[in-house]
Amino acid sequence: MPESSDTSFQSLLHEIRVIPPSPEFAGQAHVRTAEDYDALYQRSLEDPEEFWAAAANELHWFAPWQNVLEWKEPIAKWFVGGQMNLSYNCLDLQVERGRGAKTAILWEGEPGEVRRISFEELLQQVQRCANALRSLGVRKGDCVAIYMGMVPELAVTLLACARIGSVHSVIFGGFAANALVDRINDAKAVAVVTQDSAWRRGNQVPLKGTVDEALTKCPSVRRCLVLRRTGAEVTMTPGRDMWWHDEMARAGAVCPAEPLDSEHPLYILYTSGTTGKPKGIVHTTGGYAVHTYLTSKLVFDLKEEDIYWCTADIGWVTGHSYVVYGILQNGVTTLMYEGAPNFPEQDRFWKIIDDHRVTVFYTAPTAIRAFIKWGDEFPKRHKLDSLRLLGSVGEPINPQTWMWYAEVIGKNRCPIVDTWWQTETGGIMITTLPGAIPAKPGSAGKPFFGIVPDVVTPGGQPVPEGNGGLLIIRKPWPGMARTIFNDPERYQRQYWSQISGAYCTGDGARRDPEGYLWLMGRVDDVINVSGHRLGTMEVESALVSHAKVAEAAVVGRPDPLRGAGGSGCETLVAHDAPAPDLKDELRAWVTAQIGALARPDDLRFAESLPKTRSGKIMRRLLRELAETGEVKGDTTTLEDLGAIAALRQADE
Ligand code: PRX
Repeated sequence: MPESSDTSFQSLLHEIRVIPPSPEFAGQAHVRTAEDYDALYQRSLEDPEEFWAAAANELHWFAPWQNVLEWKEPIAKWFVGGQMNLSYNCLDLQVERGRGAKTAILWEGEPGEVRRISFEELLQQVQRCANALRSLGVRKGDCVAIYMGMVPELAVTLLACARIGSVHSVIFGGFAANALVDRINDAKAVAVVTQDSAWRRGNQVPLKGTVDEALTKCPSVRRCLVLRRTGAEVTMTPGRDMWWHDEMARAGAVCPAEPLDSEHPLYILYTSGTTGKPKGIVHTTGGYAVHTYLTSKLVFDLKEEDIYWCTADIGWVTGHSYVVYGILQNGVTTLMYEGAPNFPEQDRFWKIIDDHRVTVFYTAPTAIRAFIKWGDEFPKRHKLDSLRLLGSVGEPINPQTWMWYAEVIGKNRCPIVDTWWQTETGGIMITTLPGAIPAKPGSAGKPFFGIVPDVVTPGGQPVPEGNGGLLIIRKPWPGMARTIFNDPERYQRQYWSQISGAYCTGDGARRDPEGYLWLMGRVDDVINVSGHRLGTMEVESALVSHAKVAEAAVVGRPDPLRGAGGSGCETLVAHDAPAPDLKDELRAWVTAQIGALARPDDLRFAESLPKTRSGKIMRRLLRELAETGEVKGDTTTLEDLGAIAALRQADE
């Protein structure tokens, strides 16, 4: 075991399985062999500008760019001087390429209705919606806040904003009024698009009611467009609120896409992460379009006949990049599902896959762990034989979870593509490119073309082999965030100040001798056990590999002498009814898996762990709980407040 040092951290996880793609998959993939990947990666490093320009040339531009990149840290400009429109690339271009009658959005409502919207129909709806927004006074550069469920009109609204150059800010439909107020006011949104209420597990979530509450504190909002989805009764404020169906009927049918400067802002997306005040991450048009287009094509190995389903809500960046923009630019059918995975039963996802013959399925480890907990009987009710590729995003996929996903869902036939990226990166950065890169369960894989990651100490030095360090990105890439809205100084400080010349991801990682990257969790979450710095993810992974553990979270336990991040750790395990000797069993298990160093001292059990609404464990709250015995910090992004209360009671 390597010596501990306080300039990097240790890695205890040693996963040795290597799972190559089947020859059938590799034979038909866009990138077919490791040699092809290496050669193309090398080329992309030698001349990144030429590499990205070649991808950009597969899209439509109203006016050509003069320079591919202008870079003055931390300000990047891509395809400088070029003019394009992302809505045009998602719609008009696809119709021109003969896909007018092809299904663009395949939508299933939670109650079971199915809608198939062709590229031509989507283009018509988007044009009307764009005209409707204009008639409500929305102008180029104005921000439109969108607070909706997973309905096709949400995608229509995004594309309509992009068409006229207004900037969308999607606020996840699970957030409460105060989160809406903060985000609307920060961006000074002039209009809100919402719906009466949304279906969720058979219940209705009153979105318009929440908007009404928020808008009493949002002076910038002049208009609110309301889609009738469930038919729930809502209060319409005269002069401010308009019905979607009225405005769409009134709106003109034709709205040509506005040629926009490549650096014209496309959207703001607030990311709370798991700490502190939400940041409005700003993405712009041309570079983001190219990055999401090319990663969608190669990482999901998209083909004309694919039925692609990403289960993320459009309220998250994954939904922006890989439900809407990246997929439609490839002219591929994207499936949207409105509701919960366990409604009416825990097999809803598997039924959707069979009913619609889904070929590519992209979801998050937190969801997969829930499926494992629910039991194999649910996927086993369905054939799942249309699937050819599975994807994972959002957090490290523990090897155990990976194996289950591969066996029970992929039937050992489908490669699993892991994808590491962030709201700030706009698109996928590190991945086990399917067909070309054999998977190592638990590793996010290798860099995507043109991406230059590195692992360093906080001082920027290389870490000793096998040790973990900070994951940084050394070169700009087209999908990168351009700033934090209203706070360029925070953008510079948070991402570009720590390591000279590099983007700091905030994640810990280790690189193995074959160049695979293993994510170890957020650097802020590193725990200190008897002077050894360990990433949380590895201990969690060891716990989750025990048959009786579905989920686990490890946080540092403060030491009164050494302060926060002191020695020891506190471990939380999600379990309904633990047997009395399970604690000892788990301690012995972790010791056997990764060593006595990582043996959890304190173990608590609870039915569920506190998570953000996007499924990330909120370690900040767990640390606070471990430190003070209570939680006073910001819980607005917490999915289930009950989880914290239950944990308090679960104290030993
Ligand atoms: O810690 C990493 C983790 O999620 C963070 C980014 O979260 P967010 O901005 O919400 O974007 C989520 C969708 C991309 C990262 O800093 N993360 C994301 N994907 C992975 C991951 N950790 C390990 N492996 C992944 N595949």
